[in-house]
Amino acid sequence: MSLKITKVVAAAAGFALLLGTAACSSERTDDAGGDATGASAKGGLVGIAMPTKSLERWNKDGAHLEELLKDAGFETTLQYADNKVDQQITQIQNMINQDPEVLVIASIDGTALAPVLAQAKEKDITVIAYDRLINGTADVDYYATFDNYKVGQMQGEYIVDTLGLKTGAGPFNLEPFAGSPDDNNAKFFFSGAWDVLSEYVASGKLVVPSGKAPKTNDDWASIGIQGWSSDTAQSEMQNRLNSFYGTSKVDVVLSPNDSLALGIEQALTGAGYTEGVDWPLVTGQDADQANVENMLAGKQAMTVWKDTRALGDQVASMVVQVLKGETVTVNDEKTYNNEVKVVPTFLLPPVVVTKDTVKSSLVDSGFYKAADLGL
Ligand code: BGC
Repeated sequence: MSLKITKVVAAAAGFALLLGTAACSSERTDDAGGDATGASAKGGLVGIAMPTKSLERWNKDGAHLEELLKDAGFETTLQYADNKVDQQITQIQNMINQDPEVLVIASIDGTALAPVLAQAKEKDITVIAYDRLINGTADVDYYATFDNYKVGQMQGEYIVDTLGLKTGAGPFNLEPFAGSPDDNNAKFFFSGAWDVLSEYVASGKLVVPSGKAPKTNDDWASIGIQGWSSDTAQSEMQNRLNSFYGTSKVDVVLSPNDSLALGIEQALTGAGYTEGVDWPLVTGQDADQANVENMLAGKQAMTVWKDTRALGDQVASMVVQVLKGETVTVNDEKTYNNEVKVVPTFLLPPVVVTKDTVKSSLVDSGFYKAADLGL
């Protein structure tokens, strides 16, 4: 049986289960490698590679996607790689050895997967880049993510509106940060924010005492925090406060996500800043629980929430469309050029959450229980 035919048979089985016309498979594969026999007997095997368990969002992403695919009758193997590129490559290699129908990959280093994906392509495995684009290869078929540029734009606009920059307020002291240099998303986050903020840096209404203001969007990696590490962000913020702030205060910190924001907030506490008194405006992204708690405590002004359940839903339906041989639904076929091709993409909308909208956005939607947040 050719691989293509296997896919269609597997698709039929998977889709029958999706429609509820057959009993759901309760068999599950474990994180260590999976069940090599199950792939074609059930709805087909889907390999899911996630970057790390150390960040809350990826745990939620993986668990939700796995649950959806299992409920639809697929087998899954879900692996986390401790933010180690080689480990992720080995995991993907092991998945390929099990002949999955589809690989869903949230990459650690978006430039490091071309050789392993070439092997996937040889076996006719469909590859979906999850949240982060995979660069430098023709062997990535689809991409599903949130509108990454918009995430940064929302952070920038929040700063402009809250500080009243459009009506001439200022000058304010700003410290900008960017995400991990190996993550393709990080440049979109930074560009979105910097396209909004840079005019105020140029006019002097935003002053960057540390001098760590990239001259152009393309220089964003010069202020990138490798691996999105909270600890590195904390020491970087400590250094900036110690070296460039004598009696002056920082008014605003552009943090691209919540893991950096946590470290930055620790540094601010260490330097004696007080919530409600001289605490600066700090941005974020992901609505991680610790950061939502910090928002409620006045330590973080906003976060950009990306409902990871919606991303999982989208990717699960892409998997079904692939296996049914249907056209895969995308809504952006121009933005995500991976240096070899423009990858057909489905973009989901991010949402700004502040202290005032925690309940209406995060609790009422069931993303958190009120009790999780002490509400
Ligand atoms: C994701 C963010 C996340 C960051 C760190 C990015 O690629 O889009 O949601 O905060 O990685 O894991």
